[in-house]
Amino acid sequence: MEILRVENIRRVYETQGKPVHALRGISFSVKKGEFIAVVGASGSGKSTLLHILGGIDRPTSGKVYVDGQDVYEQNEEELAIFRRRQVGLIYQFYNLIPVLTVEENITLPARLDGRRVNRERLAGLLKELGLVKRRKHLPGQLSGGQQQRTSIGRALFNAPAIVLADEPTGNLDSRNAEAIMQLLRSANRTYKQTTIVITHDREIAMMANRILEIQDGRLIRDEVIG
Ligand SMILES: Nc1ncnc2c1ncn2[C@@H]1O[C@H](COP(=O)(O)OP(=O)(O)O)[C@@H](O)[C@H]1O
Ligand SMILES: [Mg+2]
Repeated sequence: MEILRVENIRRVYETQGKPVHALRGISFSVKKGEFIAVVGASGSGKSTLLHILGGIDRPTSGKVYVDGQDVYEQNEEELAIFRRRQVGLIYQFYNLIPVLTVEENITLPARLDGRRVNRERLAGLLKELGLVKRRKHLPGQLSGGQQQRTSIGRALFNAPAIVLADEPTGNLDSRNAEAIMQLLRSANRTYKQTTIVITHDREIAMMANRILEIQDGRLIRDEVIG
């Protein structure tokens, strides 16, 4: 089943009156449950692509469909709901809310949506992420690996259509990086959670089942590896 389709995405930024072609016509389709690594040199357009998939940055032209929904046909209010329910974002620097505890951060997407928090789901995630004893802690009291595990919990909490991670291990040592990738991979297997991870680490890219390589805003490789 197709969960994501990208049709001829272009993104042109304006800097000091000059156009910057961040994406020059990218198309691909993703089936539910895929685990994809996006690789490419710095400045090739990886983050721009991820933001466009996640409903954060509008393409200059082209279409994005998530679970059949034309993402950018929605108005701002619908887009905000789309981002909360259908997208789980993970960044290099965690982006947790510093005044909220681990469990408050993880359940934030549901609470922003005005929904009752599913305590069972929370308990299950805290266990899988190894955060049971840390659940009442604030982000500032956690290690980098624990903060990133919290942000994974937040990304997974609403069971979004797609999880998007931009260099999620970029700020971690190799042991923590490996653990973070294993958690993403196991969520991918357990919940058939479709996941797209930007990385410049070749070993981490090999954990994916498909690799997309971007060069100068173009897709130059789209290969299934496992
Ligand atoms: N908000 C922006 N305004 C202007 N140029 C941008 C903006 N965001 C990204 N770019 C430019 O678009 C290109 C792609 O950037 P980016 O997607 O961040 O690449 P990557 O994540 O692969 O390093 C770069 O040339 C970058 O400078
Ligand atoms: Mg980037």
